[in-house]
Amino acid sequence: MQNVIVTGGAGFIGSNFVRYLLGADHQVRIINLDALTYAGSLENLKNLPASERHIFVQGDICDRALVDDLLARYQIDTIVHFAAETHVDRSILGPEQFIRTNVMGTFTLLEAARRYWLDEKANPVAPQEVRFHHISTDEVFGTLQPDDPPFSEITPYAPRSPYAASKAASDHLVRAYGHTYGLPFTITNCTNNYGPYQFPEKLIPLMILNALQGRLLPVYGDGQQIRDWLYVEDHCEAILTVLRHGQVGESYNVGGGNQPTNLTVIHEICDILDELQPNSPYSPHDQLIQYVKDRPGHDRRYAMDITSIQRELDWHPRQSLSSGLARTVQWYLENPSWIDAIHQQQDYQGWLAKNYGDRETTSNQS
Ligand code: NAD
Ligand code: TYD
Repeated sequence: MQNVIVTGGAGFIGSNFVRYLLGADHQVRIINLDALTYAGSLENLKNLPASERHIFVQGDICDRALVDDLLARYQIDTIVHFAAETHVDRSILGPEQFIRTNVMGTFTLLEAARRYWLDEKANPVAPQEVRFHHISTDEVFGTLQPDDPPFSEITPYAPRSPYAASKAASDHLVRAYGHTYGLPFTITNCTNNYGPYQFPEKLIPLMILNALQGRLLPVYGDGQQIRDWLYVEDHCEAILTVLRHGQVGESYNVGGGNQPTNLTVIHEICDILDELQPNSPYSPHDQLIQYVKDRPGHDRRYAMDITSIQRELDWHPRQSLSSGLARTVQWYLENPSWIDAIHQQQDYQGWLAKNYGDRETTSNQS
């Protein structure tokens, strides 16, 4: 792994991965291809270690000519593919962009990689030294009942939101390119991430930022939905582990091994803020909790069996949910200028109005 394209490297997990990889591998050169949609920002890439080994290219993964040019110009041997539309609520209100980026974008990258790595006689990179690593999600497996066993690598796909369906389609394409053309690939399907630089449309940063400003904390439905949460740096370590030691053609489930309800997570965030900001006029922060109309088709529970990556590759999450949440809240408190930049974004204010403005409040506390 010498010359790596990271797609979506200005987004939440992508930017954390760029930072992590530059620190963990002192040879690698990263070409960071990101369109800078509402979810991506150069603010996420400030103060990188070894920034001389990081080249940022603003561009679209659906732009085949651009991808071809980058592959050849930088003699790329590895693609780590994060770029995607990622928010379930946005996919419900506007699915088209999800199909374009997540399905067509992944297809474009796969085609370009196939041509460059496997077809071109003049290609200076040996086919056995290349890798297409695709970042995916547990949501492709659908939803679980309370007593169902967790998702494993062989659980059949059953996506239920436009986001999950578009990610499932992209996973299928990656596997098809592996089996049909021999493209060397690996996939990681990960649970919900949280940590520094996460855009505050997702549960944890939304709750932290709302609580800091004394805004209501909108709980969808009864708040008893369950997610498995992973601190983002643990995810980055898992990806690098799979890149270095994973078996080509395999997918690995990655997760934090916890299953709190949304309400538990929100209360824990409030408790941390109460402790760190005892003089806040909004303390105790859980007085801000407000039940609101549920998300349509809301998946009830996700849980991941991570035995395979633990046993085979000796990867384990380092942060517990409590330690990860404490770090995360601290990071947002220490980075007010990052928060200001997002609050000034027109798109963000528009999103809050669109998703929450007319959302019915409920007294659903069952
Ligand atoms: P994000 O929404 O924070 O960032 C996505 C990035 O992709 C942004 O920087 C955006 O500008 C870029 N992008 C979007 N469309 C693009 C295009 N057409 N061309 C180039 N760049 C484009 O996403 P994230 O939360 O960091 O998620 C990254 C990946 O991890 C996604 O593939 C997602 O499905 C997967 N994933 C996320 C989670 C999670 O909890 N966030 C969990 C499991 C898997
Ligand atoms: P989210 O962070 O959007 O991730 P995902 O839907 O991909 O799991 O949401 C996490 C959980 O939090 C999910 O069950 C929906 C819920 N949620 C709320 O209750 N209120 C909110 O305002 C948001 C954004 C999410």
